[in-house]
Amino acid sequence: MSAMSCLAGKTALVTAGPTREPIDPVRFISNYSSGKQGYAIAKALVQAGVKVTLVSGPVTIDPPENAIVKHVQTAQQMLEESLACLPVDIAVCCAAVSDWQVSEVAHAKLKKEPSQNNLALELIKTPDILATLGHHRQRPTLLVGFAAETHNHNEYVRSKLSEKNCDWVVANDVSDGKVFGQDTNHASLYDSQSVYEFGLMSKADLAQQIVARINLYFNKKDDTLL
Ligand code: C5P
Repeated sequence: MSAMSCLAGKTALVTAGPTREPIDPVRFISNYSSGKQGYAIAKALVQAGVKVTLVSGPVTIDPPENAIVKHVQTAQQMLEESLACLPVDIAVCCAAVSDWQVSEVAHAKLKKEPSQNNLALELIKTPDILATLGHHRQRPTLLVGFAAETHNHNEYVRSKLSEKNCDWVVANDVSDGKVFGQDTNHASLYDSQSVYEFGLMSKADLAQQIVARINLYFNKKDDTLL
């Protein structure tokens, strides 16, 4: 039995990329996420024999072959497509979901008046996809979140694990601002008890390492059933 074979036939949802929250028909709120890490995880899962649905915000990279890809723009659409995937064995929420959306999207382009120096936009929270999955009655068996933190990793990540009810959080150190769009990542994997440092590696290698750990997780689960 190959090391990866216990994942064959399992189902997974991967969210990836940024979301775009419209302000008016020509403007939006978004971020610098490239989607590279999520796409690499989707690819590594496909290679391990997993049936993957990739729910992706707008990115410029090609999706992995043999994954079902759902293209979305907003956090709300990402939530709806993610919920439509349930039930799944594994969910990896890699997307850099915008935290905020405007309370009312303007139907026409917002014009600036000659005398105008300010524009106030009211922002409201977007739905939290990871937390919704974490508290769902069809919660994925293994739920993995990501965190981009510049400081106090331990504290923030531990609270994220419990608030969002996920099993693991992969924390990226973004203190040097060098993760977005790069091909490398420096990450640690937290579960409720421990932390494992991956060190600096390519996003493709990190994806393989995460999938190897997902495989171990399901192997261990199988062992406990014997
Ligand atoms: O709370 P924070 O944005 O730091 O959490 C990051 C994790 O939560 C990531 O896994 C991200 O995909 C997920 N998330 C989400 N929906 C949101 C905000 C974050 O799924 N609205």
